[in-house]
Amino acid sequence: MTHKTSRISGFHKLGVPERIDQTLAFAGLEGGDLKSLFLDTGNLPADLVDQLIENAVGTMNIPVGVATNLLIDGKDYLVPMATEESSVVAAVCNAARQCYDAGGFITSMSGTRMIAQVQLVGIPDPGNARLTILEHTEEIRAICDDCDPVLVRLGGGFRDLEVRIIDAPSGPMVVTHLIVDTRDAMGANAVNTMAEKLAPHIETWTGGRVYLRILSNLADHRLARARCVWKLDAIGGAAVRDGMIKAYEFALMDPYRAATHNKGIMNGVTAVVMATGNDTRAIEAGAHAYAARKGWYSSLTQWEVTREGDLAGSLEMPMAVGLIGGATKLHPMARACLQIMDVQNAAQLSRVIAAVGLAQNFSALKALATDGIQKGHMSLHSQNIALMAGAEGEEIARVAQRLVELGVVRIDVAEAELQKLRAGH
Ligand code: MEV
Repeated sequence: MTHKTSRISGFHKLGVPERIDQTLAFAGLEGGDLKSLFLDTGNLPADLVDQLIENAVGTMNIPVGVATNLLIDGKDYLVPMATEESSVVAAVCNAARQCYDAGGFITSMSGTRMIAQVQLVGIPDPGNARLTILEHTEEIRAICDDCDPVLVRLGGGFRDLEVRIIDAPSGPMVVTHLIVDTRDAMGANAVNTMAEKLAPHIETWTGGRVYLRILSNLADHRLARARCVWKLDAIGGAAVRDGMIKAYEFALMDPYRAATHNKGIMNGVTAVVMATGNDTRAIEAGAHAYAARKGWYSSLTQWEVTREGDLAGSLEMPMAVGLIGGATKLHPMARACLQIMDVQNAAQLSRVIAAVGLAQNFSALKALATDGIQKGHMSLHSQNIALMAGAEGEEIARVAQRLVELGVVRIDVAEAELQKLRAGH
């Protein structure tokens, strides 16, 4: 037997079909029908797939659902969500329905400013270096704005400078933050270019050595905010409300619970970020770093009881999403999703996403504080299990129904029920 090697030179130069052939051959899977699965790129044109990433061999379809009932800042939205997890879309619809009559969500945004960091080392006198850099603010503004005249024309560009001193194990680091308004762009390219352009100047002014020049995903000058009041009678009374407050306090105080609580928020947030072709990892990183900003990891949302006794929820989190650049503009499905949402700018998109995140958290807390999460998950999850057991067509609903009736949503039970169904029992 010949040795299998992953050292394939020139793989990137091959066409997509040849790459698929080589990949399947490596895995010993050639000759089956897998090639056609890889060649079917769905709603992403094959040539675009090959341009978007390196060594492309196919696409991975994720269902897109539409969240209904969303009333945000007085406007009705249908919000596309791309997710593989059942119950996520339904959770948003349910939460939004329960606050629709009371006026829905109110949102705002702290701005569309991104941070780029320039790391300076080899500085014996960091206090002196810090002030030296700050004295060059106007020159820095000119260097940054020169990098992107289009952004400046659109009302964006350099806004502010912060210089921090970090005591690292090998000595002090002087870290310059460029604060740049990137408007409707996510802004990574714009701010990274500025940081790289500025770096040699900082070295000249201070005599130090610059290493990293890169944006920060802790985009805390780009916070999206959403709040909403759920009336007591719409949510099922004081006991439900109090249970939800207890659930929130658990996440507030305990990082083990906060991780799951925030994961639920990200179920909603990431799904819209994905549907609009934005960078899901940037948003996830920003969210979790922001959740730990006080020195311990905690809840991204806040839940309170209003003077009237209703339940008020609020969410504030970094939201570096754009409408231009990358997959947002190129992916036909992302473009279509943005058209459905009918957002005019990146700030409006960010605000809608925050409302979706808050809605998601409401539904999770309500389910957890009352029936538990499994009841709601059961019917959708049971369909997935029925499919996994091999059910087809009408069998899927019938097997799923049996699993719910039995109260056990397990693959072995689904297989047994499918056999019984096929045997005519
Ligand atoms: C599941 O994907 C998300 C939840 O675990 C969130 C939560 O516990 O708050 C239900």
